[in-house]
Amino acid sequence: MQVHTTIAALRHALAVDRSQGHTIGLVPTMGFLHHGHVSLIERARADNDSVVVTIFVNPLQFAPGEDLASYPRDPDGDAAKATAAGATHLFCPDRGEMYPEPVRTTVTVGGVADTMEGAMRPTHFAGVATVVAKLFSITGECRAYFGEKDYQQLAVISTMARDLSMPVEVIGCPIVREPDGLAMSSRNVYLAPDERAAAPVLRRALAAGAALVAAGETSADAVRNTMVEVIRSEPLAGLDYAEVADPRTLEPAERCDGSSRLLIAATFGRARLIDNVAAADR
Ligand code: PAJ
Repeated sequence: MQVHTTIAALRHALAVDRSQGHTIGLVPTMGFLHHGHVSLIERARADNDSVVVTIFVNPLQFAPGEDLASYPRDPDGDAAKATAAGATHLFCPDRGEMYPEPVRTTVTVGGVADTMEGAMRPTHFAGVATVVAKLFSITGECRAYFGEKDYQQLAVISTMARDLSMPVEVIGCPIVREPDGLAMSSRNVYLAPDERAAAPVLRRALAAGAALVAAGETSADAVRNTMVEVIRSEPLAGLDYAEVADPRTLEPAERCDGSSRLLIAATFGRARLIDNVAAADR
């Protein structure tokens, strides 16, 4: 695995790969890699000849007061995991390499970025879209892999790539969970032991919502209420939202069916966790 810290070095290495006829898979991350990230790298490796893993804790997607300064980091562990999963290039730029000062040009995606996470964190998705647009521009034609764990982020990035005719095929990959149902996340390290024990309530609330849809419920409000009740039964959980949304536009639904997406955000102490399922998932 080659390690690059500059845009020029990564571009040069990928030009060499392309000259040998290689296809390229891209896996953008903020590091502190876990099995969820590894599943994306392995999928990219299965589909492509070269695999670029990027590690950059993107300041633009954190609002003041969020966890930018304390975001967990493990550069050596990340390099070992990326290599083992099949990465051929690791791109770890610093802030100065990625952003001119001041940042003048940003990417704003309308509609799909406005609800849920976009409403709770108004500058977040412009930060995500801007850094991913840069990574797509640096990498060039490729397949890019994102987890359904961040379902709205996946929808924002797919919309951006389509709207701006980027030469990138955006591929969504399934959520990897702990044995007790908690979705893996770099932020799970913030959980105190009692909060960690409480956190699988997210998955249980989503399962209760999905079970209601499977039983024939078509009122999205009824499904929302059920998810809210399950979350409220856990005193350590602070609910941000429990939503039933259109799987593509992410707009709140009135009626629901198996294609609807169920999404939840809640805090446990200082950890803010998100999770989601397709209503047809059990
Ligand atoms: P990060 O949180 O590090 O996640 C990187 C990728 O891993 C994202 O596509 C995310 O959806 C995926 N992922 C995280 N946990 C997962 C899990 N349990 N199962 C499957 N996939 C999972 O998301 C970001 O970084 C950033 O916003 C980024 C896109 C890199 C832009 O800065």
